Amino acid sequence: MKRDFISLDDWTRAEMVVLFELAAKLKRDRSYWGDHLRGKSVGLVFQKPSNRTRVSFEVGVSQLGGNCVYLGPDEINLGVRESTADVAKTLSRYLDAIVARTFTHQDIMDLARYASVPVINGLSDMHHPCQALTDIFSIEGKFGKTKGIVLAYVGDGNNNVCHSLLIGCAKLGIHMHIATPKKYAPDKEVLKKARVFAQETAGRIFLTHSPKEAVAGTDVIYSDVWVSMGQEKEARKRLKDFQGFQINGNLVKGAKKDFIFMHCLPAHRGQEVTAEVIDGSHSIVFDQAENRLHVQKAIMAFLIPKSGS
Ligand code: CP
Ligand code: NVA
Repeated sequence: MKRDFISLDDWTRAEMVVLFELAAKLKRDRSYWGDHLRGKSVGLVFQKPSNRTRVSFEVGVSQLGGNCVYLGPDEINLGVRESTADVAKTLSRYLDAIVARTFTHQDIMDLARYASVPVINGLSDMHHPCQALTDIFSIEGKFGKTKGIVLAYVGDGNNNVCHSLLIGCAKLGIHMHIATPKKYAPDKEVLKKARVFAQETAGRIFLTHSPKEAVAGTDVIYSDVWVSMGQEKEARKRLKDFQGFQINGNLVKGAKKDFIFMHCLPAHRGQEVTAEVIDGSHSIVFDQAENRLHVQKAIMAFLIPKSGS
């Protein structure tokens, strides 16, 4: 039975720990498991632009000995040129896994439903699990633990990165403080699930409209863009609605002395974060970006059986 990587809901804490252990080995030695994907091909079906996700998957597949095929919006045109089901069934005859970046989360679910090979969510409107899993791996790398760490997310709560962090943090005992403007709270269903997972790990989820309250005494301050891909038409309104939610030198004074600043990137200096913070000594944004490579290699190694086995 094939397994997909669609959302962190479906992954247990124990499985995430296995992925972290493998990712740590792959980080120490980039040639480790260098023939795992020998003779195998992974397709990237991307409806949106990407730097980190595309490059880290392409390089990751190559380091595991496999071959990568990039299929941008002009090639596949998911659901327009042909149905998502036909795309999934056709690609399953050529490929050993599909990484998909789509506008709607339903498209990822449909690809997974009809594909006979593993489907990995490389970002949808609802979730960005590769990013969140990597972020938690990065937090563990910095603090040597996850349980009890306090992460303040400031900005757009109704957002793919925030949703995946909510689930992942709850499963690993990271407390999450989320500061958003009134109409930008996280999705209710995601919150409901995260609260159930948080109960099991004694994690705390605290929602507020005050960035100052959210960052008080925290270990990690996290932000994402105010206008996500696909929301460009709302840009003017969003930039106005998010005034007061910028992470700047004044705001971070409320965090612990050794706090770290995280951002999934791409970032907009002067909007959600100032250059002083993102380019300052507390920022680990490029460690996060690097870790995408190691964690995604671990995910692929976990989901795709080794050549010859
Ligand atoms: N963080 C992230 O997924 O970056 P890209 O959009 O560049 O892939
Ligand atoms: N929320 C952002 C994340 C980019 C990695 C977006 O969807 O555009």
